[in-house]
Amino acid sequence: MNFPVITGVGAYYPEDILTNDDISKMVETNDEWIVSRTGIRERRILKDKPTSYMAVKAIENLLEKTNTKPEDIDLLILTSVTGDRPVPCTANIVMDRAGLTNAYGFDFQAACSGFVFGLEMAKNYCMSGRYKKIILLGADKMSSITNYEDRNTCILFGDAAGCVLIEPSEDPTYGIIDTQMHCDNSGLENLNVKNGGSEFPLTLETLAENRHYIYQEGAKVFVKAVKGMADVCVEMMERNQITKDTLDWIVPHQANKRIIDATRERAGVDESKVMINIQKYGNTTNATIPLAIWEYEGQLKKGDNLIACAFGAGYNWGGAYIKWAYDPK
Ligand SMILES: CC(C)(COP(=O)(O)OP(=O)(O)OC[C@H]1O[C@@H](n2cnc3c(N)ncnc32)[C@H](O)[C@@H]1OP(=O)(O)O)[C@@H](O)C(=O)NCCC(=O)NCCS
Repeated sequence: MNFPVITGVGAYYPEDILTNDDISKMVETNDEWIVSRTGIRERRILKDKPTSYMAVKAIENLLEKTNTKPEDIDLLILTSVTGDRPVPCTANIVMDRAGLTNAYGFDFQAACSGFVFGLEMAKNYCMSGRYKKIILLGADKMSSITNYEDRNTCILFGDAAGCVLIEPSEDPTYGIIDTQMHCDNSGLENLNVKNGGSEFPLTLETLAENRHYIYQEGAKVFVKAVKGMADVCVEMMERNQITKDTLDWIVPHQANKRIIDATRERAGVDESKVMINIQKYGNTTNATIPLAIWEYEGQLKKGDNLIACAFGAGYNWGGAYIKWAYDPK
């Protein structure tokens, strides 16, 4: 059988830092408000380069760490809401620049749930037996769709990329054991980028409306996000007979520290078991989960029980139960 196992993780974040104090000079806000409402202290901003730049850097990091040749990768699944261009796929650009000469690849978009949706997708591709080295990558240059005159949104987002290598194994003990995705489609108007697609193509008039930037009804999204993230985390625990004692790590999408705390409380686990790096990066959309795993990789042990969970626009949400497959290298 071809059980899907995560065998490595890579990431990249840009050098430039945008602090809460920097944002306080752009809009009416302050560090205390941002930290208390979101947990975010700073975020990284990619200047003068596209999303693919961070994606290539994250892949290079992954290949180096796992001692993998770029030509050995046979599939790249790239999830992003900020691809370089509408056409072609950012995956094509990334495969070209990262030297993935024997891979096929594509982009897909599932808002902030992209990486978890991608785990389900990568799992199925791996189990098909046709792919031996799959890269699942989440990358977003959220600063490219953020309006730095809108204090409701500009405090939240940052830029980064992260990826995992997924390979088939004969041993069913480790890997992506279980996944569950959900959509209720009730939030279409509460979190979106309205203009720039086929409904409202960009014109000089639509540009002037600023609706090519991300828009959010924060309080409405917050309520749904707390419920979605917590529900799916508990769903994964119950379905896989994981208790608060046997759960080693929650890997939550990093949208708001208060949403992460609520998820942890529902799961009943200590804060030390939750991967949290929102204070440094903000919400990097499709990069949050691999970036968190990347930062905590040195603390992960073979056999650890991880539950990744995410919530995003639409609404959609999902969870994945991963049995970690290796000790720190
Ligand atoms: C955005 C968010 C941090 C706002 O926090 P909140 O506690 O819900 O705040 P509200 O939106 O209710 O706004 C409360 C007040 O603060 C004000 N406010 C909003 N942003 C502010 C800022 N950056 N600085 C200071 N005040 C701000 C609002 O204007 C409002 O003022 P009013 O009462 O005079 O109208 C929070 O709603 C959130 O995180 N939402 C979900 C985010 C999320 O998960 N998104 C995507 C999932 S991927």
